[in-house]
Amino acid sequence: MSGKNNYFITTPIYYVNDKPHIGHAYTTILADVLARFHRAAGDEVFFLTGLDEHGLKVQQAADNKGITPQQHCDEMAPRFTGLWEKLHIQYDDFIRTTEKRHESVVKDILKMVFEKGDIYFDEYTGEYCVGCERFYTEKELVDGKCPQHNRPLETITEKNYFFKMSQYQQLLINYINDNPNFIQPKHRRNEILGFLRQPLDDLCISRPKSRLNWGIELPFDKDYVTYVWFDALINYVTAPGFSTDSKSFNQWWPAIHLIGKDILMTHAVYWPTMLFSAGIPQPLTIFAHGWWLIGESKMSKSLGNVVNPLDLVDKYGVDPLRYYLMREMVLGQDASFTMESFIKRYNSDLANDFGNLFSRVSTLIAKNFENVIPEPGELTLEEIKVQKSAESVIEQVNELIKKMRINEAIEEILQFVRSINKYMELQAPWKLVKSDKSAAARVLYTASESLRISALLLHPVMPNRTEIILDALGAIGTKLKWGILKSGTILKKHASLFPRIKVEAPVVEKIKVTAQENVITYDEFEKVELKTALVLEVEKVEGANRLLKLQIEVGDEKRQIVAGVAEYYNLEELISKMIVIVTNLEPTTIRGIESNGMLLAAKKGKELSLIIIDSDNVESGTKIF
Ligand code: MSP
Repeated sequence: MSGKNNYFITTPIYYVNDKPHIGHAYTTILADVLARFHRAAGDEVFFLTGLDEHGLKVQQAADNKGITPQQHCDEMAPRFTGLWEKLHIQYDDFIRTTEKRHESVVKDILKMVFEKGDIYFDEYTGEYCVGCERFYTEKELVDGKCPQHNRPLETITEKNYFFKMSQYQQLLINYINDNPNFIQPKHRRNEILGFLRQPLDDLCISRPKSRLNWGIELPFDKDYVTYVWFDALINYVTAPGFSTDSKSFNQWWPAIHLIGKDILMTHAVYWPTMLFSAGIPQPLTIFAHGWWLIGESKMSKSLGNVVNPLDLVDKYGVDPLRYYLMREMVLGQDASFTMESFIKRYNSDLANDFGNLFSRVSTLIAKNFENVIPEPGELTLEEIKVQKSAESVIEQVNELIKKMRINEAIEEILQFVRSINKYMELQAPWKLVKSDKSAAARVLYTASESLRISALLLHPVMPNRTEIILDALGAIGTKLKWGILKSGTILKKHASLFPRIKVEAPVVEKIKVTAQENVITYDEFEKVELKTALVLEVEKVEGANRLLKLQIEVGDEKRQIVAGVAEYYNLEELISKMIVIVTNLEPTTIRGIESNGMLLAAKKGKELSLIIIDSDNVESGTKIF
C-alpha cells in the first residue's frame, strides 16, 4: 500500500429491532481493522456504518413496546454507537435511514428510476418472510419454509410497484464476468452466476401504507412506502454525497462493501441492478464473509442463542476479542466460536509470544541498562537477518491486507514475533551482559526495534495495547520502517499486557497409591542426573527417518545427542528450546553417531511431546530434582 489512495469501506447497516450481537460486532471490527491498516499506510479513508431503521420488524418491535417506531430507533441507536465506542471502532460516518439526508436521496433515486420507465404498477401474490423483509420465490424455499429463518411464510396478494430488475440480468452477468474482483470470494461469485442462469424476476419495491407505514413514502404515490431493502442499500451512496455533494461523492465512490453471506443476494443482485438503472457506477467489491457459529448454528438473534460480545470485552478486554475474531476467521468461510479456542489463542499468541517478548525486552533493559534503550553499535549478520525479515514482513502484511487475507497477515506478524523470541534465546543477552555488554546492547536494541515494528503492524487489530507498547518505547506515530527507534529513550513502566488466562484444571479423582512392583528408593533415583540443555543445532541423520542429531549446551559443556523425534518436530522448531536430558548415561553409538545423553519426552501412541522448561530464567546445565 503505497501512495495516497481513497479507500471507502462499508458495513451493512444493522436492523434496530434487537440489540447488537457478535455478528454485527464482527463485520464492524473487520471494517475498522481494514480502515486502520489503510489509514496507517497513508490512504484517505472513509469508513461508513449505520442503522437500517425502516420496515415491518421495526414497526412490530415498537408496537410491542407501545412506543412509536422513531422512539424505538432513537432508543436503539445508542446501543450500537455505545458498543462501537467500546470496541474502539473509528468510523467516519454513522448513517441512520430515518435521517432527512437519506430520505431525500432515496426519493431522488426512485424518481430517476421511475422516469426512466423502470418501475411499473402490478398485482402480485407471493410468499413473504417478515424476518427477511422480502418475498421468496418457490425455488428459494427449503421445505416450504424461509431458508434463513426456517419458519413458514405468509402468502400475500397486493398491488405494488415493481422495479424491472429482469431487464438488467444480462448486463449484470457480463459485469460479473468482466470484473473478477466484483464479488468475492470466488465461490460466492459462482453462487451468484449460478443463480443468474435462471430468469431473474422483477423486484417488488413498495409496501401499501395500509399494511406498513414505517418507511419512506414513494415520490410518485403517497399511498405507498419504499421496500426496506431498496431504501437501505441506497445508504451506501447517500453518505458519500450522491445528489448532494458531487465532489465528495466522486472522491469516495465506488465502495468496498463488507457483508455476511446471508445478505449476498440483495447486495450482488438487487443493488447492482438498481445502480445500473440509476446510472451510478458499480461498487468496487462486494465481499461476503462467513458466519460465526456455535456448534452448528449461527450465533444470531433469530435462533435465540446470542453471545453478547460485551461480556467477553468486560472480562478479557477489547483487544483480545478483536484479535481472536480477526485471527480465527478465514475471510469467506464460517468459523466456530468457542471459549476454549479463545483462551488457547490468547495464551499462545498474546501471552506467550507477543506479551512475553515485550516483558523480556523491557525487564532486561531495566535491569542492565538503567531502563534506557541502548545503542545498537555495529550490527552482525544475525541482526541484518532480523532486519531483512522485518522488512519482508512489512511487505507481506501489506500485500495480504490488500487481498483482505487478515488472518494470514496476523500469522505473518506472529511468526516474526516468534522468530525474535528465538533470536533472544540464541543470543541470550542475559548472559552476554556479563561478558560483552555492547553485544547485549546490540541484541536488546534489535529486539526492541522488532517489537516496535510488530506493535505497529498489529496496531490496526489491537489499537489499545499496542499503543501501550509504542508509548513505552517512545515510538507512538513512528514510521513502519526499520531503524527508527531512538537509543537513549527511557522505557516507560507498564503492567503486564496480556496476563495469562488461567484455565481451571479439570477435577481429577484422587487415586489411592498402592504398593507397586517397580518402586525405587530415593537413593536409586538420586543416581539419575537430570539437567536442562539448550538445543543449538539440529540435523537429520542420513538414512534414518526417525532420528535427529542435536548439538546441545549443558552449562559450559557442549554435547551431541541422537534422539528419535524427527517425526514429531521440525528442525527449526527445536532450535533454542530448553529441554531436559539425562546427563550421566554411558555414551552410546547410534547409526555410527555418538550420542552423549538422553532427552526426556512424554509419549503415548502416536503423540510425543518433549519436556521443555517454560521459563526464560532457567539456564542450561541446571539440575532437575
Ligand atoms: N439491515 C440488513 C442489512 C442492510 S445493508 C444495506 C441486515 N441487518 S442485520 O442486523 O441483520 O445484520 C446483518 C449482518 O450481520 C450481516 O452481514 C450478517 O451476515 C451479520 N451477522 C449476523 N449474524 C452473524 C453471525 N453469526 N456471524 C457473522 N455475521 C453474522 O441484514
